[in-house]
Amino acid sequence: MNSEKTPRQLFFPQSAKILVIGSGGRENSLAWTMAKSEKINQVFVAPGNGGTEEINSCKRLNIEESNGQELISACKSLKIDLIVIGGEKPLAAGLADELRAAGLIVFGPCAKGAQLEASKNWAKQLMTEANIPTAQFWTANNKNDAIKILKKVGEPLVVKADGLAAGKGVRVCSSLKETETAIHEIFKGKFGKAGEKVVLEECLEGPEISIFALCDGESLITLPPAQDHKRLLDGDKGPNTGGMGAYAPAKIVSQEELNEIKETILVPTLEALIRRGINYRGVIYAGLMLTKEGPKVIEYNCRFGDPECQALMPLMGPELAEVLYSAALGTLKKAPKLSFSKLMSACVVATTSGYPEDPKIGDKISIDFDKSDKNRIQIFHAGSKKNDLEELVTSGGRVLSIVGQAENYEDAFKNVYNELKNVHFEGINYRLDIGNQVRSDFQPINNTPQ
Ligand code: AMP
Ligand code: GLY
Repeated sequence: MNSEKTPRQLFFPQSAKILVIGSGGRENSLAWTMAKSEKINQVFVAPGNGGTEEINSCKRLNIEESNGQELISACKSLKIDLIVIGGEKPLAAGLADELRAAGLIVFGPCAKGAQLEASKNWAKQLMTEANIPTAQFWTANNKNDAIKILKKVGEPLVVKADGLAAGKGVRVCSSLKETETAIHEIFKGKFGKAGEKVVLEECLEGPEISIFALCDGESLITLPPAQDHKRLLDGDKGPNTGGMGAYAPAKIVSQEELNEIKETILVPTLEALIRRGINYRGVIYAGLMLTKEGPKVIEYNCRFGDPECQALMPLMGPELAEVLYSAALGTLKKAPKLSFSKLMSACVVATTSGYPEDPKIGDKISIDFDKSDKNRIQIFHAGSKKNDLEELVTSGGRVLSIVGQAENYEDAFKNVYNELKNVHFEGINYRLDIGNQVRSDFQPINNTPQ
């Protein structure tokens, strides 16, 4: 069953060295959290971004996540004990397989396992087989078949590109006409190869929640649930984005409900992967919709959510690196218990103008960080880089995640929004209503363009 080599070091090394692979806010928050642990000697991030070296003595390695051979050489010469792969693209491309084949210890699923995210049709087949609650679906390989299905169902559908489309491959349609247009667009090549196959889904309703399980191939543990905000504008208006903010823990799901989600969704998912001969050592992220009939899976991802990860990481105990190491080795049951802070964590993403369609980049970023409360405020960079003059400039749509913790959500969000007043770059944009679900003092401001 185990296609992956298992290296022999079973115990977490003293003074461990870790490499996080990726360049987003998610990877910076993972690096920041692990670098806090006394057992960690050094955290590297490849390729990282303009803020990587500003956190807890992390170091950047200027190696792209697509360059497996250079990553292997660097890991060997730096004696890296654990590699954590952040994003779905390198996972789907087989980076974890390549690094493992070189004898390295990796947290992140093999390419076969990453199909959970990289092929919606594959994930749907797996859910059907394992009896996992999800939206009814139909798969089409060409436009005519898709239109036939639409006519037969006679209701607006959700149209999904089968493959990876950077979070943009889904259109939730509200009319038959819109569904038809979405089908036409997708088969015209809107998402390239990712849209050669299309999954049509029944439209579900209800609040969404992100559930994360750390898996070691045989068993799993869950993290506190988080809620993301996918739309660009306040009031959940505007286009879908990678995520404009998040908070955790999301109390919309109780501990008992989380246990039930574990038993009815996560464990059956892992068992179905095992039946396919897949030794899944990484994150299963189940995006759920809490429908009237109960929680249903709307998507799987094979990695931490971004920005959910930025909200969650400050809540993690110092055991995180050791837990990820054990998961990477298939020995999660021997890992120390992962502890979680009791604080509430809030994250707001600051984007450049034009995001998500056409983000404007290259503008100077200034951050007048209030250091007095540094323990409870973090700034995780994503779309930032240092220019030739070593100035910090914007380099991507989602520039920064501002994260804060407090005993209650009202204070956590107040601190984050106060901190955002100290962040400046041309065309900065952020939602004002992140966490409105849990802020009892929230007052909507009706200034958002419709
Ligand atoms: P995905 O990329 O699959 O997460 O989809 C992006 C967003 O589309 C989700 O976060 C949901 O808001 C929405 N969505 C996806 N599938 C469905 C569905 N079956 N019913 C309603 N909304 C959906
Ligand atoms: N925040 C949604 C995602 O990471 O896909």
